[in-house]
Amino acid sequence: MNSVYANKNIVLGVTGGIAAYKAAEICSALVQGGASVHVIMTESATKFVGPVTFRALTGHQVITGLWDEPREFEIAHVSLPDKADLLLVVPATANIIGKVANGVADDMLSTTIMATKAPVVFAPAMNWKMWANPVMQKNVEKLTALGYRFIEPECGRLACGEEGKGRLASPGVILKAVADVLAIKNDLDGVAILVTAGPTQEPIDPVRMIVNRSSGKMGYAVARAAVERGAKVILVSGPTDIPEPAGVELVKVQTAAEMLSAVMARLPEAKVVIGAAAVADFTPKSPGNQKIKKTGDELSIELQPTTDITAEVGRNKGDRVLVGFAAETENLIKNAQSKLASKNYDFVVANDVSKPGIGFGADENEVTIIGKDGSVREVARAPKLDIANEILDSVKQALGA
Ligand code: C5P
Repeated sequence: MNSVYANKNIVLGVTGGIAAYKAAEICSALVQGGASVHVIMTESATKFVGPVTFRALTGHQVITGLWDEPREFEIAHVSLPDKADLLLVVPATANIIGKVANGVADDMLSTTIMATKAPVVFAPAMNWKMWANPVMQKNVEKLTALGYRFIEPECGRLACGEEGKGRLASPGVILKAVADVLAIKNDLDGVAILVTAGPTQEPIDPVRMIVNRSSGKMGYAVARAAVERGAKVILVSGPTDIPEPAGVELVKVQTAAEMLSAVMARLPEAKVVIGAAAVADFTPKSPGNQKIKKTGDELSIELQPTTDITAEVGRNKGDRVLVGFAAETENLIKNAQSKLASKNYDFVVANDVSKPGIGFGADENEVTIIGKDGSVREVARAPKLDIANEILDSVKQALGA
């Protein structure tokens, strides 16, 4: 069967929400696509839809309790997580998301999620107030940083009669997301990739500093995408609010000078360097040892240039692949091309930071990837993880060349 689902083992977790009945349609489509689907239902889910439905659709025993007599599997919560190519939770209640985010494993589904190394995809569905609850959003943010995926709920009329964001995403969207995860290639297996991310902070005195607007999201997305594709990732990061991503070696730095020494120290190990950090170009020449007093007078702070880290890597590049970013507000392509040449990059990722909704701090980006061979590839607006994968596709090609 020529489908991305063919011969894949998918564990479908069904939790207790009204949308549980919609999981049957997803289940059926996966089975028709050739997947072997094993369903785990929480106890509440069985109040909304009967296990027999999923048994009939999948041809497999449905697991409903942690203490069920194992029939198909020796010890289900050990064998299923290992067998799974993907774990999909439809619908995902606030309860299951909260449990996983906090390490609770008190039923078969949460235990299986905890025990699997396979990608986990949640399709949440709940009342809009529950979805908007800051506790919920923190859990989603934490899990996302750890590599769990979420298919955003849609806006519309909810089962409770209210309108808002909380409806289960449509089957088409869920199936596409599953197909995308199953299609992730392991094409950077073992490749050592050094990524810089975030801003740097340059001290003026012990309490004040010069910073910039970088959130670190783009660099962290590159690190995460690279890990998912099998790379060995060293992430040298300035201060950010992003939780530590799973599977990377995180080296935390504060200043441009610290970032430079961390990068140069790890350069010998790296086959690829991707400079997504927004490194300060200037740093106070002589930061005060004590807090500078307010006197009412004007204050001048003398700044000196920092070392350009990617340019320094470019001078010591060897046979590495080097990717730099160019955040510009005007003459995007021209400015990016001149950086490509002057810094000895293989690729420059140009993004127009003057456009609203993309670039600094945003969850999405829209970039042009320019190669030293003259190639120009425009990548339409997309989540930063997708942009990261596009960048890695270019890197992969250059590695193969
Ligand atoms: O020249 P510009 O600062 O715009 O170039 C941006 C690129 O250079 C980014 O990839 C950034 O990570 C890198 N850079 C650096 N060290 C600096 C300044 C920029 O690595 N001091």
